[in-house]
Amino acid sequence: MREMKAPATMEAQSRWRHLISDRTAEAEKLQPAARKGRASSWDARARHYAAQVLPPGPRHPLLVRVSRAAGPQGTVVDVGAGPGVFALPLASRVKAVVAVDSSRVMLSILRRQARRLSLDNVTCVNASWEEAEVRPAEVVLCSYVLPSAANPAAFLRRVDRTATKRSFVYLDAASFDLVVDPFWRHFHGRPRRPLPSYLDLVAVLRELGMEPRVEIVEKRNSSRFATMAIAVSTIGDRLLLPDTAEARRELEALLAPWLVRRNGAFATPLRSVPAAIVSWAPQGERRAT
Ligand SMILES: C[S@@+](CC[C@H](N)C(=O)[O-])C[C@H]1O[C@@H](n2cnc3c(N)ncnc32)[C@H](O)[C@@H]1O
Repeated sequence: MREMKAPATMEAQSRWRHLISDRTAEAEKLQPAARKGRASSWDARARHYAAQVLPPGPRHPLLVRVSRAAGPQGTVVDVGAGPGVFALPLASRVKAVVAVDSSRVMLSILRRQARRLSLDNVTCVNASWEEAEVRPAEVVLCSYVLPSAANPAAFLRRVDRTATKRSFVYLDAASFDLVVDPFWRHFHGRPRRPLPSYLDLVAVLRELGMEPRVEIVEKRNSSRFATMAIAVSTIGDRLLLPDTAEARRELEALLAPWLVRRNGAFATPLRSVPAAIVSWAPQGERRAT
């Protein structure tokens, strides 16, 4: 038996915290007070988000890996489940899904959709992951929630302690910031402070003594905006623009020749983007083998 030792330094956790605090300070400086609550609240963004993200296909690499790891008799905890992009398709492949989310509106959309699909094995927990009370499950999944966690070590330890078989974190391998970088620079005149990347996540996991496996997969660009006004509002939020008619007009003039029409909706011109599936076996299990 070989005991895994966590590296003695906390360099990666410290780098992560600096990246988050610089990004937050920049947002607080740039974001007009009127928009602050709106842009930061997932409750306010829930309906647009649910309409904007297309459901994953049956062979989506994350769905395949998570359902295989859990097995048909296993339970999956989906941390930051949102409107159920993964929780709902997983519910028909595993025994039960526990959807944890701090946004009440996101979970109400998820519940409504579960009823529509006659899924009775999805339980919702409306709490932040840091405070949620959930039982251990075969698999814990966390898609597009990191890298915004302020304290990644506490967040990831909780993920690790809850999973009895495997944990999965899914996130961009190339930040969306890059896609909208010309617009950010147009309005703010300088590059944006970056968020932690999947490589920062891997470094933090290693510091915590986990042995992550990383797979880079090509993710279909599944974001759609039903109307130009929704595209302007959603991308305007991402760019921390003031909610004024003038800013909307200026952004629309930039987006109109750039966005493409797909099936009657507007989409960014990328067909696909690289995403990272970072997964690991529970620390306790590694100790026991
Ligand atoms: C970008 S959405 C991702 C939704 C879904 N997982 C997906 O892949 O489409 C992020 C979700 O995570 C939730 N969230 C963010 N931080 C959270 C936390 N600390 N605890 C629980 N939920 C959180 C938000 O409310 C939001 O619903």
